[in-house]
Amino acid sequence: MNPREILVTSALPYANGSIHLGHLVEYIQTDIWVRFQKMQGHTVHYVCADDTHGTPVMLRAEQEGITPETLIAKVHGEHLDDFARFHIAFDNYHTTHSPETRRHSEDIYARLKSAGLIVARSIDQLYDPLKQMFLPDRFIKGECPKCGARDQYGDNCEACGSAYAPTDLKNPYSVLSGATPVRRSSEHFFFRLSDDRCIDFLRGWTGSGTLQPEAANKIREWLGTTGDDTLSDWDISRDAPYFGFEIPDAPGKYFYVWLDAPVGYMGSFDNLCARAGLDFDRFWKRGATTELYHFIGKDILYFHALFWPAMLEYAGFRTPTAIFAHGFLTVNGEKMSKSRGTFITARSYLEQGLNPEWLRYYYAAKLNGSMEDIDLSLEDFVARVNADLIGKYVNIASRCAGFIVKRFDGTLAGVEADDPDVCRAFDCRSGDGAGHGRNSGEIGRDYENRDFGRAIRRIMAIADTANQYVNDQAPWNLAKDDARTRELHHACSVAINLFRYLTVLLKPILPRLAADVEAFLRIPPLTWDDAETLLPQGHRIGEYRHLMTRIDPKQVAAMIEANKPVPQPVQHRDKTDAPSTATDTRIETISIDEFSRIELRVARIVRAEQVAGADKLLRLTLDTGTECPRTVFAGIRSAYSPEQLEGRLTILVANLAPRSMKFGVSEGMVLAAGGQEGGPYLLAPDEGAQPGMKVR
Ligand code: 2FM
Ligand code: ZN
Repeated sequence: MNPREILVTSALPYANGSIHLGHLVEYIQTDIWVRFQKMQGHTVHYVCADDTHGTPVMLRAEQEGITPETLIAKVHGEHLDDFARFHIAFDNYHTTHSPETRRHSEDIYARLKSAGLIVARSIDQLYDPLKQMFLPDRFIKGECPKCGARDQYGDNCEACGSAYAPTDLKNPYSVLSGATPVRRSSEHFFFRLSDDRCIDFLRGWTGSGTLQPEAANKIREWLGTTGDDTLSDWDISRDAPYFGFEIPDAPGKYFYVWLDAPVGYMGSFDNLCARAGLDFDRFWKRGATTELYHFIGKDILYFHALFWPAMLEYAGFRTPTAIFAHGFLTVNGEKMSKSRGTFITARSYLEQGLNPEWLRYYYAAKLNGSMEDIDLSLEDFVARVNADLIGKYVNIASRCAGFIVKRFDGTLAGVEADDPDVCRAFDCRSGDGAGHGRNSGEIGRDYENRDFGRAIRRIMAIADTANQYVNDQAPWNLAKDDARTRELHHACSVAINLFRYLTVLLKPILPRLAADVEAFLRIPPLTWDDAETLLPQGHRIGEYRHLMTRIDPKQVAAMIEANKPVPQPVQHRDKTDAPSTATDTRIETISIDEFSRIELRVARIVRAEQVAGADKLLRLTLDTGTECPRTVFAGIRSAYSPEQLEGRLTILVANLAPRSMKFGVSEGMVLAAGGQEGGPYLLAPDEGAQPGMKVR
């Protein structure tokens, strides 16, 4: 077998959120495949990175009162930790906010430009005059132009399902500030995917076995068959403010996050090359004979099967060998849901003491290399892991190892490959002694095809045969009869060899458990070839210690509870933003994380006005340290006249969702004390505080 050279990637997770069980389907799938290839002796480089750019990262950093760089550094650490604990063994985990990714993005852009595939065009978009920025579709809401449903996003309606442009929404408002967006024109750069060269290339490339059949069908629909029903040009620039790479020679214009995200695969690999002395060109140069695979979710097929290969092709690089797309994760048959507690973070899984290898095993059992969705049925998860891993696999060692240690000083009897017992137990179909590892060939093909479910079915069939062998031999009975010591030694030695064989086959899925087995058997790390060998006579194994515990359903129930939203604290009057007058003695605790979601900032009241028709309210215009002042309606007119307030500092809840009132939009809430005893008393910081300062 010729060793292959393979570069593998998983999609880059966004740097503004936690890793959850949905993400893990892909990382576990890729990691199993990579480990299998490495066990076969191939050279594999598995790289990934955080996807750090874009508006959501910029806004989240702003909300947390930190720089985007600080935010992405923090999240990078969390992601790395989560991945390590699920045994995802990247060879490099980098960031797209890196010099390598910048350099490659600029280079690819320049090459596409000189190939005549970049055009500048002015487009009209919705602009938030308060936040002073163009609004991505997800940050605009309004009434659906088709059915009139309220509070629908700028791209499609969740009520009637219709898709539209954000400029079609009725009564649109900015999710960020509540302001009514205005249309504004600005120049954008487009990648000319509609160019005949691109279309011809993509029709050829996507139809040449690079995609799974169901993915190729989808792409055929997108590519169309005639000149007119095909791809549109792709908008690859965004205007400031934006967190990303500024486009050379275009001040105030940034690469759209999806332009530099896949370039992050190159950037991460380039970073690895520098550290490990590898040759970048060997994997990326046009005509490279090495293999390149991208594991992705089906939702981002469009970017990986169309935009990315076209970018590579016209910038003079090689294209991927194949794209492997998987489906979505459902939990108990339904979409993951925060309210049901099934939007489960990697961290909360670990915090309940659940073993990451249980999930690796369960996902593997469900994955078959197709784009079908996979379901994590929690009851089935418990039942299956307990039955297969504990009941079938670990059980073989736990029933036999003790006799070897106690009765034979830990040494194994010699077992021959053509021994009928071995053949029976190892499921040699012909029984001709041709080597017991013959089913490892089929199982290897299953791994190669990412049909891990089928591999597991075969492995568990072998485990069944092995358990049947142990039951038939009944070492616990043999042990009672001194005349049968040889039989006891033989049976337990066969069983230990079987257990080792199963460990080889399961090792890509259960790397940690396999390492524990290697330590217990006192053997070097198992490779795939070890499926063909047996331990020699006289090999001494170590003391058996319990290898894996059963899942307790209570742990799963606790995990679901931990992911349910915290019940809302007792609601105060919310008609106006006046402080509560009811004295509420009930204190419910919240975590520091929950508290830190509330953004409190110092604000200066630059203007205070009475509101015609509202005898409790004052309209406050607040300076919050940014260019645009905020308007807040406060129910404090009974205690303050406008003159008393102007120039004063107070505290603003700055990230409260804007609320439309009869008199205008209220963009936050000022804090005041009060109750039956009197008030409201407006809060004020000590002298020296400046507008915009964060209150912690
Ligand atoms: O969909 C996502 O989560 C993106 N962050 C994936 C990027 S994959 C690649 F192109 F970088
Ligand atoms: Zn609608």
